[in-house]
Amino acid sequence: MDHDAFRRLERWCWRAPSAHNTQPWRLRYEPDAIRIGWDPAHTLPAGDPTGRDLRLSLGAFVETCLIVAADAGLRLDYLADHDEHHRWVGLLRPAPDRYPTPFRTTDVWERRTDRGHLAAGVDGDTLAAVDAVARPAGGSVRTVPQAGRLGALLRAADRRLYADPAVVGELRRWLRLDPTHPGYHADGLTDRCLALSRPAATGLRAALAGYPVLRPLGLPRLLAAAAGDPLAQGGTVLVLVAPDHLDEPGQVEFGRVLMRTWLTLHTAGLAAHPLSQLIDVPTTRTALGALLDVAPQRLLHVARVGRPTRPAPRSARRVAAGRA
Ligand SMILES: Cc1cc2nc3c(=O)[nH]c(=O)nc-3n(C[C@H](O)[C@H](O)[C@H](O)COP(=O)(O)O)c2cc1C
Repeated sequence: MDHDAFRRLERWCWRAPSAHNTQPWRLRYEPDAIRIGWDPAHTLPAGDPTGRDLRLSLGAFVETCLIVAADAGLRLDYLADHDEHHRWVGLLRPAPDRYPTPFRTTDVWERRTDRGHLAAGVDGDTLAAVDAVARPAGGSVRTVPQAGRLGALLRAADRRLYADPAVVGELRRWLRLDPTHPGYHADGLTDRCLALSRPAATGLRAALAGYPVLRPLGLPRLLAAAAGDPLAQGGTVLVLVAPDHLDEPGQVEFGRVLMRTWLTLHTAGLAAHPLSQLIDVPTTRTALGALLDVAPQRLLHVARVGRPTRPAPRSARRVAAGRA
């Protein structure tokens, strides 16, 4: 197995998306395979206690590796070999053929989360295309009926999360609100990616620094209000629905599905802004499940999707494509 050929591609593989841009993945080069796993230092135990977003991010990374390798002419496939204890999900192995995919490395490079204004929404053909991506795995992609009710659910979810000191502490750890932050060009969520003005970033930093003292005085409500209303920024809310009883390896597999749906949207000229808080908080998750008439545990990912009105900033990576 040509390890060097894959090593040269790693910087593109790292463009995969991950919750809070933690980039949890790690690679181990073995004689006949490349093993993919995760680093616990780059997970979100408070915000993602079940590991759902961790496994979706790992699956997104697996799919990205396969796309990038195929585009470079490397013949690799993926074998799931989940080991929760040792923190591995599976192997990239030599294969007789290139991984079949319609996507290219340039799609991987150009895709990005867009938290700004999204014009128009998702038309019927595009919705059918992303749904068709999820169907073979037993999932589906749905729009939310009575989407007007989502605003109240989002506010409730934000308030609930900002009231949890562990979640806020973790968010602070991954926020990069000042360009002088040592991790600004490596990982986490920057002021630019969060579409925060300089005064808004400074205000948020100050509010979070005062959190322990200000929390009893209603800071969670203020922080939730400061987060604004993403739904006022346009787009259609799409939900990735999983089959019932999806186990841990199944969630990684759905991370691959998520990546394919995200790239399908990207190649249709659309961008996505995940709104995971809706399914992180049990009450809003239940309410969203009721709107969709789906068991809440089947809701895997939620995002606002639409046509970008200007290019979103590119997020940082620890292994940067521009540098290597
Ligand atoms: C499973 C998953 C959940 C995510 N949840 C959120 C979210 O709730 N809110 C948000 O603004 N971004 C969310 N994101 C987007 C990440 O923050 C984003 O992928 C990361 O910062 C890297 O940026 P990029 O997607 O532009 O490459 C999520 C991404 C993934 C993969």
